[in-house]
Amino acid sequence: MQKLGTYYLDVALRGSRGISTSPIRMNGKSNSLFLKSTRRKKSSHEWLQRQLHDPYVKWARVEQYRCRSAFKLLEIDDKHKILSPGMNVVDCGAAPGSWTQVLVKRCNPAINDPSQPAGSIISLDIQDFLPVEGAHILAKSDITAKETQDAVLNLLQSTGVFSLDN
Ligand SMILES: C[S@@+](CC[C@H](N)C(=O)[O-])C[C@H]1O[C@@H](n2cnc3c(N)ncnc32)[C@H](O)[C@@H]1O
Repeated sequence: MQKLGTYYLDVALRGSRGISTSPIRMNGKSNSLFLKSTRRKKSSHEWLQRQLHDPYVKWARVEQYRCRSAFKLLEIDDKHKILSPGMNVVDCGAAPGSWTQVLVKRCNPAINDPSQPAGSIISLDIQDFLPVEGAHILAKSDITAKETQDAVLNLLQSTGVFSLDN
């Protein structure tokens, strides 16, 4: 139960906007989380409540995905089979990287399964974000900027991709 409390705290700290995170008081017995703030807006409070009660947020933590959106891509792929080992994918607007984590699992860029073809994943975002093992990361890169597009094309060509489908 204490772990849950830590988890919620983590979510709150990472996701909150306009919420003062100090001082923080946690009630270990009930796992209640108190963020003392004079600036908290109703919408922030509602967002926090949703995070606290969303099973996908908890599940993302358990599965070590950076956010719950991973499950959207997993569900889409399970239903429509859009990803497969050997695919070369450019993830535009990839931060914090949960879709990239799914792409690495499904497209085999790190050759975790030697019996399947190796893909390649290029993930970029205008924001900074942490690397994902198996993917080429272009952080602080605006897709509308020519230098970003050139970097993507160079990376694609270095992995043997000379034309794109969509
Ligand atoms: C909804 S988030 C993507 C979440 C990601 N798919 C995941 O599951 O982790 C959209 C991202 O697009 C990025 N973005 C918006 N405009 C961009 C641009 N011109 N170039 C690169 N990234 C951009 C934002 O910074 C934001 O991180």
